[in-house]
Amino acid sequence: MKTIGVLTSGGDSQGMNAAVRAVVRTALNEGFRVMGINKGYNGLINGDITELNYTSVSNTLSSGGTFLKTARCLEFKEEAGILKAVETCKKFGIDGIVVLGGDGSFRGARDLTLHGVPCVAMPGTIDNDIVCSDYTIGFDTAVNICVELIDKLRDTCESHNRCSVVQIMGKNAGWVTLEASIASGATTTVVPEVEFNFERDIVERFKRGMGFGKTSFIVAVSEGVFFDVPSNKNYEYMQKIGIHNAAEFAKKITEETGVESRETVLGHVQRGGTPTARDRIIATEMGNYAVELLKNNISNRVIVMKENHITDFDILEALQMKKPFDIKRYNMANDINI
Ligand code: F6P
Repeated sequence: MKTIGVLTSGGDSQGMNAAVRAVVRTALNEGFRVMGINKGYNGLINGDITELNYTSVSNTLSSGGTFLKTARCLEFKEEAGILKAVETCKKFGIDGIVVLGGDGSFRGARDLTLHGVPCVAMPGTIDNDIVCSDYTIGFDTAVNICVELIDKLRDTCESHNRCSVVQIMGKNAGWVTLEASIASGATTTVVPEVEFNFERDIVERFKRGMGFGKTSFIVAVSEGVFFDVPSNKNYEYMQKIGIHNAAEFAKKITEETGVESRETVLGHVQRGGTPTARDRIIATEMGNYAVELLKNNISNRVIVMKENHITDFDILEALQMKKPFDIKRYNMANDINI
């Protein structure tokens, strides 16, 4: 292995730059050349590649986004796209690649490895929905952003005796919503993975809270609840009760509980900004580990966090794993948050 490439793919997340920095500096320390592949797999197809040195990654540790840029690349899902990428690797002398992204990006890494370009992958997404890993780079920062924003909404809700319906990102998974709910004391947590009932989880919980003298409420809802995807247990129910989005959710809460409600869709603010120390540290450890694997001629692996340790799995095996939702912590949030 003489030259290592690195790319970021899929949705960006905080800590991606820290991970790339660790890959670049570890690889340079090992005596490798490092090539930055721009715009995800597109850069491999189009030859949009730049050599990186120690200072290319200076002052990137604390910045959000990804300086390599990122994209979702449909062309790479086709054999023709993969073959173009293999040709690019030959042209630039790239012997191995570190890929940072979600599970779609892992499939790309596996396909490239099978076509003779050794790859290792690292989990980078705010959603924490990569089944093989307890943690994904960006998750902690996203949760902290949500909590900070919900705290602000709480102040204004409390002033007006209102309810805030807060829509949190996660098309397929409610992990960000769950953690943000625990940390912000949301009265009701609505996620794709757990069946929701308006009467039980809104009307009755609000009544109970009001009985204790509560005057403001937060309902944390994962955007995934409104999408018709297999992981969503609530899609049909939400359609049936006439809730298709956060605005309709807030309207129904106003009508059924008498508590004036407003919706706030947090959106992409959850993906930007300075990564937390936790994200920077895990990104650095994973980036370092990834290069060590390639150095030892180990590829087709995904770097994961398991029981607080960084380790690795075969990509195919990793893609077939299951990650059950943490129902225990979901119930705990319901018990403690009123
Ligand atoms: O996977 C990260 C994520 O932010 C999801 O939470 C969200 O559903 C999706 O990406 C949004 O994608 P885009 O930025 O392409 O709109």
